[in-house]
Amino acid sequence: MTKEKTLPQPANTLAMAGDNTYNENSGQQYLAMEACLPLFESLGFGVNATFVDYGCSQGAASMAVMQRLVSQLPTNSTATLVFNDLPSNDFNSLIKLLPSIKSFDSTKVLYPCIIPNSFYNPIMPQSTVDVAFALSSIHWLRQVPPPKSTSESFEEFLRKRDSRNSAASHKDLVEFLNLRGREIKSGGKLIVAAPSPCADNEDGRITGNERLRCALFKAMESLIAVGKLPPNATAGIYPPNHVHTEQSFRAAINETKRIWKIEKAYSRVIPHPAYQAMLESQKGLRDIELQKAFERAYANTVVDWILAVFKPFMKSWWIEEGLDEEACEHVFQECSSLAKIEFVKNAGAQLPVAQDFIFVRLNRC
Ligand SMILES: C[S@@+](CC[C@H](N)C(=O)[O-])C[C@H]1O[C@@H](n2cnc3c(N)ncnc32)[C@H](O)[C@@H]1O
Repeated sequence: MTKEKTLPQPANTLAMAGDNTYNENSGQQYLAMEACLPLFESLGFGVNATFVDYGCSQGAASMAVMQRLVSQLPTNSTATLVFNDLPSNDFNSLIKLLPSIKSFDSTKVLYPCIIPNSFYNPIMPQSTVDVAFALSSIHWLRQVPPPKSTSESFEEFLRKRDSRNSAASHKDLVEFLNLRGREIKSGGKLIVAAPSPCADNEDGRITGNERLRCALFKAMESLIAVGKLPPNATAGIYPPNHVHTEQSFRAAINETKRIWKIEKAYSRVIPHPAYQAMLESQKGLRDIELQKAFERAYANTVVDWILAVFKPFMKSWWIEEGLDEEACEHVFQECSSLAKIEFVKNAGAQLPVAQDFIFVRLNRC
């Protein structure tokens, strides 16, 4: 029997949608950061500390955590604040936020710096980091998984995607933990907020997550049907990430148990804040038209939220499939508008978009 040859997949090089778009559309990730803050309590470090954010994006969540760490510095100390992400990340938006970190004490001196490199490479010199964190980032795979095959429906692709990517995801997480193990000092901490699969339609919780993805794909299909997008436009647009279950996360920690010990861990469901905002606005309203208007506002927010992550992958794939580069932004905007309409139509906008998260503090042995 001949073995099927598979070509090596390229490394992922694409970051989030630029021009501050991710910062403006990451309300849910911000809530995940806030839910993680208890893990930063009562941390000890000396007068010359180094803090690193792996996968900082445009910095909105990062600044809040760095501020928290800076406020815990002793007097007469210095701190190096390291912001890491892929080279394609919009670091300009992050740089504009740096002045928001205040030391409130002239005896504390801060040295922010940026390291544009994949966190699947060494980022810091050996044993130099006191506290590191990775929020909504370690589920990003090193390599881009193969695109959806033409014989598969989108639903089928989504169903099979998890099992197809689980081996790569485990290998990547172990690699990430080993690399960070070299960089973080003995006794130092690695704090992680890791998205995990939403128990969609199970345990009585029903989310709008799947309907949101379906709305996006339906929008693309209608643009394919009228020839505005290439026929295979939906196949390779899914971002290269794979969320960890608590079990798969613990399996990777277990494989690195010589260097990492779990100090604290808890799980939470993090809803998108726009859902709660919609419910508040609709409270006591009898006017159906007004209620629908708030639903549309919710749909707009969550579609913009998902697109802040998907956009670079969509545009890059569409161009690869032959879409004219100049037409691309216009078609993207059309796709966004159609997805917003579809999310209301498929009743997704009556449901909360939410994500389960695992929050963990690891101690470097
Ligand atoms: C969903 S965003 C999370 C951003 C931020 N930490 C937050 O909590 O809002 C994921 C980030 O991980 C980054 N990322 C993905 N793969 C990466 C890699 N191999 N090396 C460094 N950063 C990576 C992405 O570019 C993106 O900025």
